[in-house]
Amino acid sequence: MKTTVKNSDPSTLVSKTGLSIKPSGIREFFDIVYNMKDCVSLGVGEPDFDTPWRISDTGINSIKDGFTHYTPNRGVPELLRLISEYLVDRYRISYSPDSEIIVTMGVSQALDLALRSIVDPGDEVIVIEPCYVSYQANIEMVHGVPVVIPTFFKEGFKVDPDRLKKAITPKTKAVLLNYPSNPTGLTFPEELLREIADIAIKHNIIVISDEIYSAISYGKSHFSIAAVEGMKERTIVLNGFSKSHAMTGWRLGFAAAPKYILDIMLKIHQYTGLCAPSISQYAAIEALQNGAPDVERMVNEYTRRRNFIAKSFNDIGLPCLYPEGAFYAFPDVSPTGLSSRDFALKLLEKYKVAVVPGTAFGESGKNHIRCSFATSMENIKTAMERIEDFVKGL
Ligand SMILES: Cc1ncc(COP(=O)(O)O)c(C=O)c1O
Repeated sequence: MKTTVKNSDPSTLVSKTGLSIKPSGIREFFDIVYNMKDCVSLGVGEPDFDTPWRISDTGINSIKDGFTHYTPNRGVPELLRLISEYLVDRYRISYSPDSEIIVTMGVSQALDLALRSIVDPGDEVIVIEPCYVSYQANIEMVHGVPVVIPTFFKEGFKVDPDRLKKAITPKTKAVLLNYPSNPTGLTFPEELLREIADIAIKHNIIVISDEIYSAISYGKSHFSIAAVEGMKERTIVLNGFSKSHAMTGWRLGFAAAPKYILDIMLKIHQYTGLCAPSISQYAAIEALQNGAPDVERMVNEYTRRRNFIAKSFNDIGLPCLYPEGAFYAFPDVSPTGLSSRDFALKLLEKYKVAVVPGTAFGESGKNHIRCSFATSMENIKTAMERIEDFVKGL
């Protein structure tokens, strides 16, 4: 009997999907920044504030009180109830705490569960670029196909409904939206969301709506596409505590979706995650019960920084739309004649300011840099002085 000799190199055993996923364009810069002294970073995508003390305290007390076990898969009932109330109060969307909400390990896991629950191999998911670095990879990891629609500075990075319609094929399962947006800091107005909703209903597609920055809005209050009539049935709302309550390390988010989707998300969660961290869930209860003044305090400070940074870029001659939410400015660096990557690299090398090239978020970000203002006003002022010197010296 012949025996087949198998290739003995174990490195040939890794998955093609895993191999083909591109590393994040942000990482390269942070490897450089990490080793650089006196560098001012506008690169970080998380609040510079520590978690408000009353929230941390509740987390600590929950350990002392022995809440260190698995929780129900869906989440702690009290937290689910509070999330449901929060969604009604803030965004006028109503999801049942018993069957339509799940607590997750950040929006990251909520997104993964959402995609896994609707995408079969070869299904298409539309993404609107420039967008959060994880979206394409997340879709590819569930063997879906990302279909990119670009948006442009001159159109305020608003998605063109005609372009959206044209991108829909019989294989389209969903469109993935993020507003306010990482990286543009801009949001989609209610009228546009209503147009997108119309298209989703007509073409029978699902909307995955990443609203992680909804609590950080400047001026207008946030409007969720799930609030449009007929949309609750086909929207998966993703949200969480990382940005709103400065809780990135607690890994806590949630998804709200109609029961037919949420049942599948819950099943996958039972096998892959079991439950979100228990202590973080108790801390989040405090965040929803008493954290509103902390959110307000942080948003007030972001507002001050946002006004300063957007004005400074425009004064320097790098056109910048005023962010409507989140904590990112996305100025156009094309007047310098440099590509976004060259701009970011030279700025880092010569003036020790770290920003992220817009191409990290997709081709249509190619004239832009993402500058996070989730850092102190002092840092922002120093960074803007250095950027001004850099641009003048070109
Ligand atoms: C648009 C967007 N969605 C999701 C996430 C991930 O959030 P979480 O910390 O809740 O996993 C981020 C983090 O930067 C983000 O910017």
